Amino acid sequence: MATEGQTLEQQLGALLDQERFEPPDEFAEQAVVTDPGIFERADQDPEGFWSEQADALHWNQRWDEVLDWSEPPFAKWFVGGKLNVSYNCVDRHVEAGNGDRVAFHWRGEEGEERDITYADLHRDVQRFANALKDRGIGPGDVVGIFLPMIPEVAVAMLACARIGAPHNVVFGGFSPQSVKERMEFSEAKALITVDGARRKGKTAPIKQAVDDVMGDVDSIETVFVVKSTGIDAPMGERDVWFHEAMEAADPECPAEPLDAEHPLYILYTSGSTAKPKGILHTTGGYLTQVAYTHRVVFDLKPEEDVFWCSADVGWVTGHSYIVYGPLANGATSVMYEGAPDYPDKDIWWEIVERYKVTLFYTAPTAIRACIKWGAEYPERHDLSSLRLLGSVGEPINPKAWLWYWKVIGGERCPVVDTWWQTETGAIMITTLPGMQAPKPGSAGTPLPGIEASVVDDEGEDTGTEQGFLTLRRPWPSMLRTLYKEEDRFIETYWSKFGEDVYTVGDAARRDDDGYFWIIGRIDDVINVSGHRLSTAEVESALVSHERVAEAAVIGQADEDTGQSIAAFVTLSGGGDGSDELVGDLREHVAQRIGKLARPKRIIWADDLPKTRSGKIMRRLLRDIAEGRELGDVTTLRDPDVMSQLNDKIKERQGQEG
Ligand code: WT7
Repeated sequence: MATEGQTLEQQLGALLDQERFEPPDEFAEQAVVTDPGIFERADQDPEGFWSEQADALHWNQRWDEVLDWSEPPFAKWFVGGKLNVSYNCVDRHVEAGNGDRVAFHWRGEEGEERDITYADLHRDVQRFANALKDRGIGPGDVVGIFLPMIPEVAVAMLACARIGAPHNVVFGGFSPQSVKERMEFSEAKALITVDGARRKGKTAPIKQAVDDVMGDVDSIETVFVVKSTGIDAPMGERDVWFHEAMEAADPECPAEPLDAEHPLYILYTSGSTAKPKGILHTTGGYLTQVAYTHRVVFDLKPEEDVFWCSADVGWVTGHSYIVYGPLANGATSVMYEGAPDYPDKDIWWEIVERYKVTLFYTAPTAIRACIKWGAEYPERHDLSSLRLLGSVGEPINPKAWLWYWKVIGGERCPVVDTWWQTETGAIMITTLPGMQAPKPGSAGTPLPGIEASVVDDEGEDTGTEQGFLTLRRPWPSMLRTLYKEEDRFIETYWSKFGEDVYTVGDAARRDDDGYFWIIGRIDDVINVSGHRLSTAEVESALVSHERVAEAAVIGQADEDTGQSIAAFVTLSGGGDGSDELVGDLREHVAQRIGKLARPKRIIWADDLPKTRSGKIMRRLLRDIAEGRELGDVTTLRDPDVMSQLNDKIKERQGQEG
């Protein structure tokens, strides 16, 4: 390639015309999956295909039936089978003689390092499982986990799995108020948290903050507190130090064989109402598909590779590709506690060099941040260990894809763009890296065994036109229900096109090669930096502020974060609020939900555009916020509202510009 003398920008610009990127021969030759026949075979006999994948796990008792789909949408996978997730993720690797293999290269924010081997996990998971039992926690009891990215989070999750107590992990960036809500919804019996959490050189007093709100959650009988930063932590009657509970516990805890459909975890995610949805995942099918996808999509060679998923363990990406997938496969991973720009903006690349990371998985928003910071940061480090790159969380724009491929991957690493959801549990649409050429901007094709289609309002295939993304066939790691909300489960996912067709909630288009191009959400869910938020949840937080009469929240396109939150706010008594009130409202939302949900922009509105039946027309608000021509306003109760709002936005832009 004649690239000499060209700037990086020019080189990337020239690549924009290249439709697809074939895997390099050296990669293709050694890939885990190389046989194109796999798609057809899986398509003809999906149950046979998945049962082959399930055979990679250790079962205490083999299943009688691969799939029971007699009462859609309630699927049962590997019916009658028994296994234990923690045995599969830990014990069997130790028994195979791999106890010395590093499970996690843990890296703390201030540069601390800890290698946790499979033998270490085996020891700690057994002890903590017994500590849970000592406190009366058993099969079916929900255990909340609110921890930063420290090794104890994996120990806690695996210990729960060992005794059949479903965990309910809450992302560390959520506020204690959100933790409380999620503990109440799930009637958690215990909570595992931490004294304090570090972020960019500061320490936040987590235990104190949790205490401030959690006092009246009566279902919680025990709070385990990990001593992590040494910051003062008030300890009350139901509180116990994690390390003391471990010391007091019996060292041996044999893994209990559990039913394949035993609940493994609940993970709350945002939906179209203010109440988050408790996605329920179970044991055998989930582990089968996360282990399978982790192996084939990332081309994993457990003896040689070092895998790093930069997500937080509090999201599904962390559940499936920091904890369960990699550990089920006996892989070595990196777990990093800190931020990507602390102490400096090259920390990620320092870590890649230090641990010789071979497989790296991150989100488009992070890649865009790196682009902004400049190629000089990755260029400071030797990234030649990398051999594959992954992306997840939102559509990756071709420019970011190309930068990732060229600057981070040195033009030699296949990039896999992986489409999936909290609900799907594991990767569903992507490219098999040794065999399928990615097209920047497209996630790729459904994986073997997965059937997806794009349909119109009537459920008819749209050909290559944009439409609703649907999944046509059950898959092993699918959500089984919404915790304690069965009707909502049916209504949200299985009612639009029939009880056996899963409605994803994304718009998409399929091209002539069968590649899927994901457009984005079609419901009232916003995707900020790959984090899923509900407009209704943010609205409800805003109106709980005493000055706010009404609020309408929308997602608007954002160069850095994909989407950002804009809130139209009507004050009680009318009029505009001060800059100080903007700050107050943002802080209020941070308290209620978490900093990630703070509106980037607040627009004072005397009134909001509503239909005659009183429904807020968000489409119009989106048009206004993004400066588009206004769509049809004739159905509005009061069409004048829009011109007032428009004037206000213009005035504001005048001031800012
Ligand atoms: C929504 C699911 C899966 C873990 C992270 C997010 C969007 C996710 C992609 C991708 C285009 C994507 C979709 C999806 N999304 N991955 N590769 N390309 N869009 O999980 O919070 O459950 O969000 O994220 O809109 O529905 P989640």
